[in-house]
Order: sequence, then structure tokens, then C-alpha cells
Amino acid sequence: MDTPTVLVTGATGTVGSALVPALRTLGVTVRAMTRDPDRPVPGVENAVADLHDPESVTAALKGVDAAFLNSPSAPDAADLQIRFADLARDAGVNRIVLLSQYAARADSPVRFLRWHADVEAHVQRLGLDHTVLRPNLYMQALLGFAGTIAQGWFAAPIGGAAVSAIDTRDIADAAAAVLTGTGHTGRTYTLTGPRAVTHDQIAQALSTATGRDIAFHDAPAEQFTAALTGLLPPWQLDGLVEDYAHYARGEAADVYTSVADLTGSPARDITGFAQEYAAAFTRA
Ligand SMILES: NC(=O)c1ccc[n+]([C@@H]2O[C@H](COP(=O)([O-])OP(=O)(O)OC[C@H]3O[C@@H](n4cnc5c(N)ncnc54)[C@H](OP(=O)(O)O)[C@@H]3O)[C@@H](O)[C@H]2O)c1
Repeated sequence: MDTPTVLVTGATGTVGSALVPALRTLGVTVRAMTRDPDRPVPGVENAVADLHDPESVTAALKGVDAAFLNSPSAPDAADLQIRFADLARDAGVNRIVLLSQYAARADSPVRFLRWHADVEAHVQRLGLDHTVLRPNLYMQALLGFAGTIAQGWFAAPIGGAAVSAIDTRDIADAAAAVLTGTGHTGRTYTLTGPRAVTHDQIAQALSTATGRDIAFHDAPAEQFTAALTGLLPPWQLDGLVEDYAHYARGEAADVYTSVADLTGSPARDITGFAQEYAAAFTRA
């Protein structure tokens, strides 16, 4: 029997870049969806397509058994993901695994959580074999602070709230298990790390791993916004501030066992993450 073909969107991104090798290990035929023909994902089939270009997406979906749907945050991300799901159904794709976000809810005050909820609802309505993954804050998002962490500090408007942050490699492993396993139809899995950690605890883990003093400073939302104005577009900065307000309210602290349940391995802890990524936090 032929091995199933899985289309991975965002194949060069945070989760996708770990999902491609995870699927290969499981013997799946991977088709990586990429936008730049000059930067193919090595070792697998590549399909050059852009979510803004439906014809290219339809071509990428040809002959695909299952699709992993992920796109970066963007003002039109919900529309792009909804159209992708429609095109996948039209192409006869059997299964969609959707990357959403922890606490996605249509009435959330966080815009990213509202748009993820819109996409979830649409995919559910399509009637395909589908599974939703709702990961919490990515540990790898800390790499966005690497510049100041290398100078001994980082700041965010989160106070002392704990978040059950997850390593993106665990999201990839969970996605690979769902894409290749059975019994996941119609299920929604919230994916978290093994414990909820405060940013002070994250600073401690980074200090231990790098052998340097790294401090976390709570920053008022206004100060955080001022520091990033001009570096991020307004929609993204406003959304990020909403995300942090949600974390600061303690709304992202629950711990779920889904990673271990799906993969058979415990979710990676922040201490291990800090050790493995230490070099990225010490570069000048
Ligand atoms: N960051 C977090 O803590 C967190 C937590 C929970 C959920 N999430 C969710 O995770 C998702 C991914 O976020 P991320 O920031 O980590 O992004 P990401 O997955 O790294 O996204 C970048 C990927 O998307 C591809 N891409 C960009 N624009 C595209 C387009 N128009 N058509 C096709 N592919 C395109 C990029 O390909 P190229 O190589 O061609 O640029 C790259 O592979 C978002 O939905 C976010 O809400 C994030």
C-alpha cells in the first residue's frame, strides 16, 4: 500500500520545520508547501504555493491524503485558512489537522483567539475528518527576546502570571501523531508544557542554562507598546498586547496531558528548552 501523502503548510516555520522530520520518521510521504522555490525544504517533495493564490494551493493539494493547516498571524489569516480548508475539501483531502491556539473562543477579547475560533468553526462545518490543536505560548517565542536576553534582561507585560508554555517540537510531534493515527476525528487537543511557569522562572532557567544573570522585568503594556512601535505593524502589536493581557490574567496556566497522551513522551520542560537553546540567548 502507498504511504499517505501529507501536505505541511508553513513548512519552514516554527512548527512546520519540526513537523516535516517528525512525519518522515513515521514513514509518511511529506509534501512541504513553500513560497520560495529557491528555498525548498530538503529531503521531501516541495510544492510552491501561497495562501493568497488559490490556484497554487489547489495544485499543492492534488493527490494529498491529509493536510496540516498553519499560517502566521496576519490580518487576513482567518480568511486565508478558511479558503484553504474549502480548497482542501474540493480537492478530496480526507483529513485536516488545524493549528489553532490555547483558549480560542469566538467571544475572546484577544483578536488572535477570535480568528482561530472562526477557522475552527468553519473546519468543523465542512464535515471533513478534522482535528484541532490548540497550543499555548511557544517557548520558542522567547527567541524574539534573544537580543535583550543576551544583554541580561527581557521585559513583557505579564507580571507574575504563570503560563503553561510549550516547546514547538512537542506540537510537531503531537501533530504527527494525529496526522498518522486514528481516533482523533472531531477532537480538539489543548497542548501545553508539563507545568505553568512565570517569566521569573523562565529567567531563572535561562540564567542556569547560559551561566549568566538574566532578569525578567515586568513592563506596563504602554511601555511594551512604546518599545515595539515601529518594529511591528499596529495590528500585530495590538494583538500581542491582548495576548499578554490574557496571560497576565492567569488565563493560560492550565496544564494538559495531551502531548504525552498523543506522543507517548512527556512534554519538554523549560529547563531543557533553555539548555538546548542556550547558544541562541548568548549571541551578541
Ligand atoms: N507564537 C506563539 O506563541 C503561538 C502560540 C499558539 C499559537 N500560535 C499560532 O501559531 C501560528 C503560527 O505562528 P508563527 O508566528 O509561529 O508562524 P510560523 O508557523 O513560523 O509561520 C511562518 C510560516 O508560514 C509561511 N507563510 C507565511 N506567509 C504565507 C503565505 N502567504 N502563504 C503560505 N505560507 C506562508 C512561511 O513560509 P515562508 O518560508 O514562505 O515565509 C513560514 O513557513 C499562528 O496561527 C499563531 O496564532 C502561536
